[in-house]
Amino acid sequence: MTTSAHSVIAIDGPAASGKSSVARALAAELEFAHIDTGSMYRALTWRLLELGVDTKDPEQVKNALSEIQIDTEIGDGRLVQRLDGHDPIAFIKEDKVSGAVSEVAAVPEVRECLVGLQRQLLISGNLVMEGRDIGSHVFPETPYKFYMDADAEVRAQRRAAEGSVEQIATRDKQDSTRKAAPLAVAEGAQVIDTTYLSLEEVVAEVRSRLGDLSTQEVSTFFSQERNRKPHPCLLFTALVIRFSGVWQKGFFITKFSGVRT
Ligand code: CDP
Ligand code: CDP
Repeated sequence: MTTSAHSVIAIDGPAASGKSSVARALAAELEFAHIDTGSMYRALTWRLLELGVDTKDPEQVKNALSEIQIDTEIGDGRLVQRLDGHDPIAFIKEDKVSGAVSEVAAVPEVRECLVGLQRQLLISGNLVMEGRDIGSHVFPETPYKFYMDADAEVRAQRRAAEGSVEQIATRDKQDSTRKAAPLAVAEGAQVIDTTYLSLEEVVAEVRSRLGDLSTQEVSTFFSQERNRKPHPCLLFTALVIRFSGVWQKGFFITKFSGVRT
């Protein structure tokens, strides 16, 4: 039986609730890796659009998914991705990606594939992982679950202040109403309303609610996962985990062969 001695702090919430900013600051403070799972759904969406896939057609998305090579790496405490050898970082916030990502994220096979990768990242070290379903679905066993929220108008203002013209309400509705792992407050999650709080105040609030991390139980999700066959997309997917900087030292590569018993 494989178990993990690493911890996950799960942060979920709707768009512009402050997940990424808080997760980044918290991860730096605790020397955990910061994993923005939204960037994984965005990167895949970008690649599908590049390949001319109609993201409104789940069958097309599903078929294209099995042909795409996804390389996922943690370097300097953050997620680095390559899709078919391309670095998507410069493109994932484009409006066309934001407009299609919720359609792609609603396809069960996509979720199965990316959730598999997200769970494997725990091998590498302690994580602050943010998204929509981290506390409810990816790591439901973690005792550290937070749900960020803020008034819809304030969230829209925050996005506009960043120069985005996207209507985030449409995406939030798609994310909350899909069948597969919809956005919802996970059981046991601590809800923080960030509407009137600065970033520093939110981080301080999370820190105080976390208490003493070192006295908590470790995650044992691998023991529950061990009898499950990985999603076929993982057969072609390399997960490269680099321990680096102050976070941890060393280097290793895990390549999935599909033989996990
Ligand atoms: O930054 P923002 O909150 O606008 O979105 P994001 O975190 O970059 O996520 C982009 C999209 O990916 C979301 O609207 C969801 O459709 C999808 N997503 C998901 O389904 N599950 C996750 N764990 C993370 C993101
Ligand atoms: O990741 P998510 O989409 O939930 O939100 P974000 O990208 O962390 O934050 C969206 C914007 O709101 C950023 O420009 C943050 O600086 C800002 N923000 C804020 O003004 N007050 C907070 N308490 C949190 C974030």
